[in-house]
Amino acid sequence: MEKEEISGLIRQAIAMLDKAYVPYSHHRVGAALLTGSGSVYTGCNIENAGLTATNCAERTAFFKAVSDGVRDFRAIAIVGGLNGVLRNYCAPCGVCRQVMMEFCDPETFLIITAKSPTDYRIHTLAQYLPDGFGPADLRAGT
Ligand code: THU
Repeated sequence: MEKEEISGLIRQAIAMLDKAYVPYSHHRVGAALLTGSGSVYTGCNIENAGLTATNCAERTAFFKAVSDGVRDFRAIAIVGGLNGVLRNYCAPCGVCRQVMMEFCDPETFLIITAKSPTDYRIHTLAQYLPDGFGPADLRAGT
């Protein structure tokens, strides 16, 4: 991906911090998911008084896209921090990594964690989820 494309995706993730519904943790997370056709689905975390019903920003973005019929993804930018202050790179949680594994090629899907549009890291899904279990493992003959 080109630098401009990466920083643009990060900016869209940052814009989602305001939308995060975080009355319990105050940890705001924003995500921007780039599709194969170049469109972007954004997401924020949505917490719940029954804490396990909380949805992460990454999954919000994925579920918005999949519910629109889109299943081809290239990259996701993720930002987050207490009160929306981006002190650290915000890595995806294990459940979100598993959701990515369902729809993305682990060798090529890029996970961009950022502190600003110019301060970021890029990993593949395979780096975050080595030896991941995915749809191919349920296909006959594997
Ligand atoms: N969170 C995300 O949205 N994405 C992650 O990958 C890590 C955690 C959210 C869930 C919860 O609302 C808050 O951050 C604290 O765990």
